[in-house]
Amino acid sequence: MCGIVGFVGSKNEKNAKDIVIDGLKKLEYRGYDSSGIAINTGNKLEIRKKVGRIANLENHIKKEKLNSNIAIGHTRWATHGAPTDENAHPHFSSNHKIAVVHNGIIENFVELREWLNQDFGIQFESETDTEVIAHLIGIYYDGDLQEAVYKAVDKMKGAYAIGVIADEEPDKLVAVRKDAPLVAGLGQGENFIASDIPALLKHVREIYLIENNETVVVTADDIKIYNQDRKLVKRDVFHVNWDAEAAEKDGYDHFMLKEIHEQPKGLSETLNRRIDEKGNLTLDGINMTKEDIEKFDKVFIVACGTAYHAGLVGKGLIEKLAGIPVEVDIASEFRYREPFVNEKTLFIAISQSGETLDTLEALREAKKKGARILSVVNVVGSSVARESDDVFFTWAGPEIAVASTKAYTTQLMCMYIIGLYMGKTKGFLSEEVYNTYIKELKEIPEKLEELLKTEEVIANIAKDIYKKEQVFFIGRGTDSAVAYEGSLKLKEISYINSFAIAAGELKHGTIALIEKDTLVITLATQDKLYEKTLSNIQEVKARGAFVIGVAKEKNKKIENQADKVMYIPDCMDEVAPLLAVIPLQILAYYIAKERGCDIDKPKNLAKSVTVE
Ligand code: AGP
Repeated sequence: MCGIVGFVGSKNEKNAKDIVIDGLKKLEYRGYDSSGIAINTGNKLEIRKKVGRIANLENHIKKEKLNSNIAIGHTRWATHGAPTDENAHPHFSSNHKIAVVHNGIIENFVELREWLNQDFGIQFESETDTEVIAHLIGIYYDGDLQEAVYKAVDKMKGAYAIGVIADEEPDKLVAVRKDAPLVAGLGQGENFIASDIPALLKHVREIYLIENNETVVVTADDIKIYNQDRKLVKRDVFHVNWDAEAAEKDGYDHFMLKEIHEQPKGLSETLNRRIDEKGNLTLDGINMTKEDIEKFDKVFIVACGTAYHAGLVGKGLIEKLAGIPVEVDIASEFRYREPFVNEKTLFIAISQSGETLDTLEALREAKKKGARILSVVNVVGSSVARESDDVFFTWAGPEIAVASTKAYTTQLMCMYIIGLYMGKTKGFLSEEVYNTYIKELKEIPEKLEELLKTEEVIANIAKDIYKKEQVFFIGRGTDSAVAYEGSLKLKEISYINSFAIAAGELKHGTIALIEKDTLVITLATQDKLYEKTLSNIQEVKARGAFVIGVAKEKNKKIENQADKVMYIPDCMDEVAPLLAVIPLQILAYYIAKERGCDIDKPKNLAKSVTVE
């Protein structure tokens, strides 16, 4: 995910750079590891770009005039190539006559790169897929930018929204949309493009929503939209009457809720990038051979907070799918306990940010002892990713809310893929079991969409219980791992004292705390442990507890014991964690909302914990 902005003003306009940078700031939620702009200072293109937040770019150019009536800008969420000045957008064609910004992925960029290099002698300055677009347009350009863009697009496969300017056409911007968002903003004597509406609301409220495979030609006085057949199309303007902040959140009240709803898309992205039509896994970033996998006699999964909870589910999976013993550890503990790690150890670090210091230091410790380091990370180019031998990206897109939701479920999905990959490569897993998992995993995004439709039911349950000051989460098997995550979610955003424990362990002490009206949230999604979990509900009910159950739709018996039930779609026990956590995320969100908490920025917490 990245953000693009483009502006074309009248000949007297000199401030294009500031207008574009201002728009980029509204898109920082789409990615923020580097940013850049291209302007035309009178038949000459200038590009300025800088790694880090947009403020770095502003500082970098603050002493330069860079007057122009036209500019394109970009804020990056790295996919191809680490976040560096070189990889930041815009990118030039080799003769510096064309500049391009791009959001998306060019799937055939390797072939195009080879072709451009071999047939045209083009040397590349970055590791990005985007640079091929600039060179393609460059080789086709003979004074007509729109034509050159058409020819380039015919060669490109993948998903993209691009913005392009040419030195010889200082009054024109050409943009294309294919499977990545793009809007155009209609002003008076000035016009715009952007990845998202908030970037434009300071200047315009009349918006054209650009459709897939459409090309937009923007000048100061006009916006022309062409369809896939390159025919001019008429589009009604869409008048925006909401404010900029709400628009960044796509109309959701909080980033957390938006991110909860992004999970079906995130999970299908995580899975589908690694699975071909025949169900074979093609793992980008992991280069382990059969021999490498056979050599491991132990796996350590090390992480913090929510990522650690993903590791708890991962343990059961990797042991079952790949037949290797797995230990899960909290990173801050692992570092100081002198664990048995050697060159036969596979060390898996899980981290959304890739900058969590405890996880990073644990990784360094394991590396020193000879372990092979595999990381499961969301942020490309982060420290954890850079210091690992193999990196498996979660592809959840930027997660803004401090409370992790979509990063967690995509981390879980990666655990399944890694387990299946290791088990299959090693020959431990039968074809039948492998195929069953693949089928079940492929169904998850759709089931999740269904599950999200029960949001209102869960929101109503939250209204009944939001005043509780103590909550217990219990479950058995993988349900106990999900219970830990549900409990963390609730406590971090609602400040309710919540506690998770394996259901079978209750009677060994914690049950002493259960009394009349104590809230106990019970996960009962595992068919093989269902009856036992119902017995645990009875134990707490006998002491007066108020019980909310989480169960599969087909298992209605729980209604006889629990006071309320939140259902998840039916699925194989092993993949249930991917669904079971969703009602808990939604419940935590609505409880915190009822309590009037600052949901996206809970007190005392930070999104990325870079201190020990
Ligand atoms: C989860 O909601 C928290 N924000 C926190 O537990 C987080 O998962 C933990 O700090 C680890 O962060 P990381 O994934 O960026 O390493």
